[in-house]
Parts: sequence; C-alpha cells; structure tokens
Amino acid sequence: MASETAAKVIPGSGPGLRIPVHLGVIMDGNGRWAKARGKMRTEGHVQGVNALRTLVQSCITHGVGYVTVFSFSSENWTRPPEEVSFIFNLLRRFVASDLQRLIRNNVKVRIIGSRQGLEPSLIRLIDDAEAKTAGNTGLVLCVAFNYGGRAEIADAMRTLAHEVAAGRLDPMSICEATITRSLYSADIPDPDLIIRTSGEQRLSNFLLWQSAYSEFVFVPENWPDFDEESFLRVLETYSLRDRRFGGLGSSGT
Ligand code: IPE
Ligand code: IPE
Ligand code: MG
Repeated sequence: MASETAAKVIPGSGPGLRIPVHLGVIMDGNGRWAKARGKMRTEGHVQGVNALRTLVQSCITHGVGYVTVFSFSSENWTRPPEEVSFIFNLLRRFVASDLQRLIRNNVKVRIIGSRQGLEPSLIRLIDDAEAKTAGNTGLVLCVAFNYGGRAEIADAMRTLAHEVAAGRLDPMSICEATITRSLYSADIPDPDLIIRTSGEQRLSNFLLWQSAYSEFVFVPENWPDFDEESFLRVLETYSLRDRRFGGLGSSGT
C-alpha cells in the first residue's frame, strides 16, 4: 500500500528542480512502439508527434528556454522511401495544424539542418514558420530536420573557407567562437541536457559540436510513451548532476 502511494508521487514536484536553459531530445523508438502493438511503423511516427506536443507544453510550463528535437537525420534517408516521404508529410502536417497554436503560445520556431534535397515547397513552408514566429519571445522550438552534426560542421567549414578565400577572414583569427557562429545553431546556446528515449545510448550524429559538455539522460520508454511524468523524472536526474566543465564542480573536490 505504502509503495503504491509512493509510486503516484509526481516527480519533480519537490524543491530544487534544475531547469535546463537548452534541452536536446533524440526522439527515438517510434518504430518499436508501433511494432510492439502490431501497428505499422508510420503509426509510431504519428504518435510521436503527439508526444512532441506534450513535450512542448511541458517545456513552456517549466520554463525551458530552448528545446531542440531530432526529427529526421541526414542518415534517415537510407530508410525505405515510403517511410521517408511519410515523415516529410508529417512535418508539413505538423506545421499546418500547430503553427497557429505555437504563435499563440509565444513559441519561436527554428528549423536546423541542411536545406539541400528538400523540395522548394517544404523550404517555403519552414521559412514561413520561422518568419511568422520570429518576433516571439517565449520557448524556442528548434526542429533538427535533415540534420547531421558532421554535415553541419562540414557546412560551417565550407562557409569559413569561402570567407578566407575572399580575403574577409584571417585564418589565424579562427577560434572556437568563429566555428560556433558558423553552425546552423549559431544563435542558440549549447544544450545543457540531452535526453534519448528507447534505451539506445548514442548520439547518432546529433549536435556533435554543441554537446561537448551536455549532460545525457537515457530513458527506456519509446518516444510515443514519453509524457510529462517522464519529463519530470529526467529533470530530477539532471538536477542531481554535478556539472564540472573541466573544473572542480560545486563540491570543489
Ligand atoms: C525515431 O524513431 C524517429 C526517426 C528516426 C525519424 P525510429 O523510427 O528510429 O524508431 P525505431 O528506433 O526504429 O524504433
Ligand atoms: C536518431 O535516431 C535520429 C532521430 C531520432 C531523428 P535513429 O533511429 O536514426 O538512430 P540509429 O540509427 O538508431 O543510430
Ligand atoms: Mg531509431
């Protein structure tokens, strides 16, 4: 009886919960969620969008500044074309159905990733979503779509090489900040915390440069099952971490 009561305590309701300024989320396990229920993988992606809506609401409620969600990687092109086009249509449908609500909730939308290989109509759609929310001052919802960390770094190197060739940049002045501001995520702080669902424990090319000092929390549930309670549980784990950044940390030992 006592343990049943304890299990119902809402995590994160206690004092001292630390809220990340920037939260990164690798939303993994849609296919396995569907398979476990005898459904098509695509149904898992549909339910994944519902979990994303819940996450956005949790971030707003708890005062997260930026949330970057990994929704399609540059390596996901290797999946069957029907699944790829389903995911692309899902992004279109998400923007069509949710943009007005995001605007009302003062959310600023950013899409990071390569625009190469995207249809012009999709580029217009995401440019429009960014433009319509550019003046918003609340949560920044950054969608990593057609995103790969190595591709991002390669793109940044190409930009800098052009600057050097044009005589606008002295190679000797290139430092970490120069690279940071050449990334897709130029104006977004590094993620404090990265969550990956579905039990996998790898980055899969997500925010490689930016995650140098991120905390990682891996949770077993598949992405469609990740709810407000899972979110608060992760924040509790994060709140117990001692971030050291190469120094001695809060305890000084
Ligand atoms: C994450 O779920 C969504 C994308 C990568 C687009 P998956 O589709 O990778 O689901 P699993 O990992 O196969 O279960
Ligand atoms: C990472 O998941 C990409 C997204 C969540 C969009 P994957 O399912 O593509 O990663 P791997 O293949 O298991 O490493
Ligand atoms: Mg996966």
